[in-house]
Amino acid sequence: MKSRDEIAAEQAAYWNGPGGQGWLASYDRIQHSIAGFSAAVLAAAAAKPGEKVLDVGCGTGETTAMLAQAVGRTGHVLGVDISEVLVSAARARNVANATFEVGDAASHAFDTGAFDLVFSRFGVMFFADPVEAFRNLHRALKPAGRLVFLCWRPLQENPWVGTLMQAAAPHLPPIQRPGPEDPGPFAFGDRARVERILRAAGFAELSFGRLDRLLPQGRDIPEVLDSISRFGPMSRLFAQAEPVQVERAKQAIAEALRPHATAEGVRLAGACWLVSGKPA
Ligand SMILES: C[S@@+](CC[C@H](N)C(=O)[O-])C[C@H]1O[C@@H](n2cnc3c(N)ncnc32)[C@H](O)[C@@H]1O
Repeated sequence: MKSRDEIAAEQAAYWNGPGGQGWLASYDRIQHSIAGFSAAVLAAAAAKPGEKVLDVGCGTGETTAMLAQAVGRTGHVLGVDISEVLVSAARARNVANATFEVGDAASHAFDTGAFDLVFSRFGVMFFADPVEAFRNLHRALKPAGRLVFLCWRPLQENPWVGTLMQAAAPHLPPIQRPGPEDPGPFAFGDRARVERILRAAGFAELSFGRLDRLLPQGRDIPEVLDSISRFGPMSRLFAQAEPVQVERAKQAIAEALRPHATAEGVRLAGACWLVSGKPA
């Protein structure tokens, strides 16, 4: 069994390597795809003029910039991400009232009690020790502050990945399912687990909203096949397979996508938790 340090090192290597590069390469498509979820989590966060906000796992800083606009010149947003390549892209936005730091949000030395809002869009599911990580975020919050983040519900409720995986599985090497405590995009799918983590880290007044949206995956099936090969769970599986297996898997995925291809493009359902809480 891997130690916490090994898991954390693996995540850091992934997001500083293929994960960060892939996210950057697929950035426009991803932003378009998750736009409906983004609007909902930003509305729930309701950042106000003058507030101090922490954007956890900020990636290229898209939400950091939106939050910076909401808090205005008297407020400030700090975006933190473990990936140097993504933080470089975020800094290139030159947002006047936002700064970006490279760091592991689980252990980063944030100022204590400094933030009104700790926010994340899909950036909190990758901690090796989530209780420790959320304790660190809890320390960074003001006593009257709030936590708001978005994470995926279980894989079974997310056909935008599940449908593809099911179609591809017979053609690929055996897919290793992550363990219930392993980090990854669907690591926070189990609401009871997330509640346990947040309560252990000192949060209360927890709320879990169910968000369901159709996610645009591409204009047509070839575009979807191209983009899933660049970033995301399928690209990781393809990387471990022989070219002939990948080809067969793509044919099977194309077949599975056919019923979802419309004049408006290929769209598949996605399901998220919109989570909020306050320091206990
Ligand atoms: C799915 S991406 C989301 C990026 C961004 N929040 C967005 O919505 O555009 C996950 C992000 O979390 C970052 N990340 C993963 N583990 C992290 C950690 N321990 N500390 C800080 N950032 C982390 C990754 O580098 C990546 O940018």
